[in-house]
Amino acid sequence: MAMITADPKDVPKVEHFAFTPESLAKAKALMANYPPGRQASAVIAVLDIAQRQQGWLPRVAMDEVAKLLDMAPIRVYEIATFYTMFQLKPRGKYLLQICTTTPCWLRGSDAVMKACQHAADGETFSVQEVECLGGCVNAPVVQINDDFFEDLDEASINKVLDAFRRGETPKAGPQVDRQTSAPVGGATTLRSE
Ligand code: FES
Repeated sequence: MAMITADPKDVPKVEHFAFTPESLAKAKALMANYPPGRQASAVIAVLDIAQRQQGWLPRVAMDEVAKLLDMAPIRVYEIATFYTMFQLKPRGKYLLQICTTTPCWLRGSDAVMKACQHAADGETFSVQEVECLGGCVNAPVVQINDDFFEDLDEASINKVLDAFRRGETPKAGPQVDRQTSAPVGGATTLRSE
């Protein structure tokens, strides 16, 4: 997986970050899952809490996570720059993470990517190319914020994006006639009582 970087010109200066009492309580509850001295094991979850509070991860937020978990800041930066789930610059209201790994590519992710890039305005939609999202059986897949949208093509991704633009919450999951990862059109086996 490629390291995630952000062009410094796209990163606004944030001088201060402090966990809200709610975020801090969530972080402490997670840290309590690990034995004393092993609280660094909660780093991904605590970074996620910081990101949900701020909307993205400025360096001061990573520093605060390092302080809370008693880690060297560089170790937190290494993790935040490795995983595509962490955003190192502000993003639009909806983050479109388009999988372009082989199964999704073979099933048409190029057309889905093009439609997403066309929609990206940095405010409503931001676009990020990602590696396998683990939903290959329903390729191509786009993760939009916390939900997967699957079995997409150009028409169905545009329909999903239009729904978000109207302020609706489109149904996540397969965008064709199938239940989860079952065959399209209904079950083909184990149909008798
Ligand atoms: S290759 Fe796209 S979800 Fe696995």
